Amino acid sequence: MKYGFFDDNNKEYVITTPKTPLPWINYLGCTEFFTLISNTCGGYTFYKDAKLLRMTRYRYNDTTLDTNGKYFYIKDGDTIWNPGWQPTKTELDSYECRHGIGYSKFTGAKNDIEAALVTFVPIGDPVELTKVTLTNKGNSKKDIQLFSYVEWCLWNADDDMKNYQRNLSIGEVEVVDSTIYHKTEYRERRNHYAVYSVNSKIDAFETSRDEFRGAYNGPDKPAAVIAGKLNSTIASGWYPIASHQLNVSLNPGESKTFVFALGYVENAEDEKWEKPGIINKKKADALLAKYQTTEDFDKAFDGLCKYWNELLSKFHIDSKDEHVNRMVNIWNQYQCMVTFNMSRSASYYETGIGRGMGFRDSCQDLLGFVHLIPDRARERIIDIASTQFQDGSAYHQYQPLTKKGNSDIGSGFNDDPLWLIAGTSAYIRETGDTSILKEMVPYDNDMSVATTLMEHLKRSFDYIVNHKGPHNLPLIGRADWNDCLNLNCFSEHPGESFQCFGPSEGPVAESVFIAGMFVKYGREYAALAKLMGDSAEEARVLSEVDKMIAAIEKDGWDGEWFVRAYDAYSHKVGSKECEEGQIYIEPQGMCVMAGVGVDDGNAVKALDSVKEKLDTKYGVMILQPAYTRYHLELGEITSYPPGYKENAGIFCHNNPWISIAETCIGRGDRAFEVYKKTCPSYIEDISEIHRTEPYVYSQMVAGADAKFHGEAKNSWLTGTAAWTFTNISQYILGIYPTLEGLSVNPCTPAAFGDFNVTRVYRGVTYNIEIKNPNKVQKGIASLIVDGQEIQGNIIPFDGSKNTVNVIATMR
Ligand code: BGC
Ligand code: NOJ
Repeated sequence: MKYGFFDDNNKEYVITTPKTPLPWINYLGCTEFFTLISNTCGGYTFYKDAKLLRMTRYRYNDTTLDTNGKYFYIKDGDTIWNPGWQPTKTELDSYECRHGIGYSKFTGAKNDIEAALVTFVPIGDPVELTKVTLTNKGNSKKDIQLFSYVEWCLWNADDDMKNYQRNLSIGEVEVVDSTIYHKTEYRERRNHYAVYSVNSKIDAFETSRDEFRGAYNGPDKPAAVIAGKLNSTIASGWYPIASHQLNVSLNPGESKTFVFALGYVENAEDEKWEKPGIINKKKADALLAKYQTTEDFDKAFDGLCKYWNELLSKFHIDSKDEHVNRMVNIWNQYQCMVTFNMSRSASYYETGIGRGMGFRDSCQDLLGFVHLIPDRARERIIDIASTQFQDGSAYHQYQPLTKKGNSDIGSGFNDDPLWLIAGTSAYIRETGDTSILKEMVPYDNDMSVATTLMEHLKRSFDYIVNHKGPHNLPLIGRADWNDCLNLNCFSEHPGESFQCFGPSEGPVAESVFIAGMFVKYGREYAALAKLMGDSAEEARVLSEVDKMIAAIEKDGWDGEWFVRAYDAYSHKVGSKECEEGQIYIEPQGMCVMAGVGVDDGNAVKALDSVKEKLDTKYGVMILQPAYTRYHLELGEITSYPPGYKENAGIFCHNNPWISIAETCIGRGDRAFEVYKKTCPSYIEDISEIHRTEPYVYSQMVAGADAKFHGEAKNSWLTGTAAWTFTNISQYILGIYPTLEGLSVNPCTPAAFGDFNVTRVYRGVTYNIEIKNPNKVQKGIASLIVDGQEIQGNIIPFDGSKNTVNVIATMR
């Protein structure tokens, strides 16, 4: 069942009922000012950091209820309704929500009044703009009232929901004409305040939530709206809000438009006050002055659309498969940008008050957006590397605002260092910018011990060389990619962190997954060493890689698939010898992607085992059989009920690893089958089962053992976005950036047909036509570049051209 449809021409998903199975959200904002917005106008806004600079309040643990939001109420006689349905939930005569790229539109109608909202964050300004157009579609004059509503968060979202003894006394606002200023804590250490304004004279305002809602009412039955009159009260403590009242008369056929602006303003310490107790409003007024008219709004909106159209044109496919076209050209790339901005911090599943930026998460996200915004990828790499320790290990997380490592979690996740190589290699393959390797980058933010980024990569690599266990496989530390496989922790008491309990150094648990990573990213590091002219380092690295391959072949192979790990007692994890959890997805994907087993048939065996033991109609499960009881020696993974999350869920992030691995052995049919199973657009028809947004990936789909097999959770902020884009664009469609130039080597289903790709690479536009006359799954017979046949798959980079035309014919 569907709850809407894709409008590809407008790059929108159109939701046709407010009653989606779960709130379906969108993100507004590209750089510093962000809003989460659901299909019923729920959500919240923050500046830079969802925890420390939260502007509007959201209520937790309330998923489908989805309070709070930025609401508009219309009072038309005795009927009170919202264009986005919530919070009054008055039945609408018509409803539509269009989530677009960086904006959302809502159209609601009731009793001959139509209200159309368009909301977005303009490029370059810390403000959310909403245009509200009210139209009288009937035959008689209407006198209605429009009320806006936002509830301020007292900035620190964590403290805001806990520290009432203080918070209920500190709320402060000012109001001048149509602008409401929220200035809680500005009197002391804050240098920022928020504004909410409308480009029209207002009839009244409200800044006290109690006055607006009335005692014992929620936002669904606000007393002041029911009374049709705001009291223009200045809040003092309690719960500050901002609401405007506009009395609107509309003749038949007449429309009126209002532009609302919700902004963030910072003042220098010596410019904070206009006079004692009165905030300096100059910057706020200047910001608001830019968006006073509908024309200002429309112009900024066009700017946003242009920005996105240009970004998304960097990779464009035209194939016979509308799902591939839509996901690659629009939604998958868009989700990659959102994960770049949010990491794993703020979604409807991540509260924004928990984790900061993950070291491994951010490195992997890079793979999906580096072609879109290489400059910001560069900056991100330097930020991440700056949280590395001198021995090559790294803080597992860092805070976006301070860019400092998070010492609560610390380090000891032994896959982390290698992801830095993965991200840096992707950046250089994309841009050719080797100058980044010579940048001086601190360790633990301490510039006095800075070295070049290249030296950081060396230390990343050597961290693994220096941390091997009894089988010469890498020590796992607290966990590797699978945060829940906690082989050294042995946590027995509720409330202890599964991951941070117990030692990270000392115990001997080993990871075959990290071994696979070491081979893959070790080789990428060796290629960088070669590029920089350091053949001694290249040779050293490759010989370490060979040793690791030997260790995997000796102790990492279980007969039909790769072993997952060795626990602290040196017992196998993910082996046929195990009682539960006999096969895991991660080493099958990573080892084959690294090329291990490709020549001796083990890769085929491993991937056949994946198909036989882990596949379901909704995707490939992370492991089987599911753990049915808590295993102290394995940790959090066994804490989840069977079929959920890391315990035999379909963890979407590593489905693309399997799909990529299939392309490494040339099985395009199977690679694509795996791709399709979790791809949102293909499963739009089962939205009532899948439940999360049909336009983006979710982190997890419940596995075969779960009660709700096929149901997804944790949409939006997942490494699945980046890895799927890498999979489809670089491996299935086969346009892979190398250090020397673009490589063209598709691995598609036999029946996929011919397709064209436009790819902007290092500033040059490649128009690539791929023909598959004999319906093969892999292999290029000829590659013609600007009329000349070339040998091999790689088009040597030539920056003197603007455009390169390529015809690739498969065998
Ligand atoms: C989740 C993991 C996540 C980890 C990080 C665990 O509870 O299952 O997916 O990576 O927490 O905090
Ligand atoms: C989600 C985390 O963000 C990621 O870092 C981790 O690899 C996966 N969960 C698997 O545990």
